[in-house]
Amino acid sequence: MTTISGTTLLTWCRERLAEGGTPASLAWLLDVGAGLARRRYHSLVLHPQAAIQLSRDLDELTHLWRRHLNQVPLQYLLGLCPWREFLLTVTPGVLIPRPETELLVDVATSLMEKGATGAGLWADLGTGSGCLALALAKAFPRRHGVAVDQDPAAVAVATRNLKFVAQRVQVLAGNWWEPLRPWWGHLTMVVSNPPYIPTPTLPQLDPVVRCHEPHPALDGGPDGLQSFRALLAGVSALAPGGWLVVEHGQGQAPALEPLFAAAGLTAIRRHQDLEGNDRFLAASAPHHWP
Ligand SMILES: C[S@@+](CC[C@H](N)C(=O)[O-])C[C@H]1O[C@@H](n2cnc3c(N)ncnc32)[C@H](O)[C@@H]1O
Repeated sequence: MTTISGTTLLTWCRERLAEGGTPASLAWLLDVGAGLARRRYHSLVLHPQAAIQLSRDLDELTHLWRRHLNQVPLQYLLGLCPWREFLLTVTPGVLIPRPETELLVDVATSLMEKGATGAGLWADLGTGSGCLALALAKAFPRRHGVAVDQDPAAVAVATRNLKFVAQRVQVLAGNWWEPLRPWWGHLTMVVSNPPYIPTPTLPQLDPVVRCHEPHPALDGGPDGLQSFRALLAGVSALAPGGWLVVEHGQGQAPALEPLFAAAGLTAIRRHQDLEGNDRFLAASAPHHWP
């Protein structure tokens, strides 16, 4: 813990912003990286005299800021990512959870709350950091779930993020539905945010993403839909009336809907992000597979 004057911190902030970056990122670094509440950061200009306590010293923060300006995501530099009400562990090699994915939780929980899914098991396929699984575990404290990823780094990070709910959530390594074999037919809610970026567009991604985030978590194959085809090939593992809720890329809904219908799913419904773009599809397994 280091104590400095508000004036010193204000000067430091101005020097760092003169090097580049945004005030929002700097506030993020000071909040998540040094324990300075946003409210305190914003009051620096009006009340610079007050003493400030930081959990990292300014030299260390300067070093992190400069690495951030060299395109390394702050989340990887700090090993932490705020997402919904959680502060998740993230490591390079595991996708940084995105704010829009928070909405996928809301779509899934509203379907679960309506009771349409009964009391069976939920699963998160391609769990990455375990963010979706953690949110479902928190929302449904009496239900059990399974989080699956094929990447050992993701399994390790998800296991860590889910340790407080380990009695109710199993983290398993493997290919999509395969590790869920013991529960086939009993899965009443399956969520997934699979890789969906078309391979040819990967080189156009922001360099921060392209150079630092794991490509197997992003690459959706030639048309971006490869993971959805693999997921849809396994939907007979859903319980009768069980739900599949996925996140997808912008503009993919018209191509995905026929694939969902061809897989035998019903009640296919689009859901939007905060900007009104179609980004999620929910669909239900029939009560009797044909
Ligand atoms: C877009 S990331 C989503 C991670 C996390 N659910 C989130 O929303 O932040 C996709 C995840 O799917 C995993 N994945 C890719 N192919 C897979 C497969 N065949 N089976 C299981 N997981 C897979 C990747 O390792 C990655 O963690």
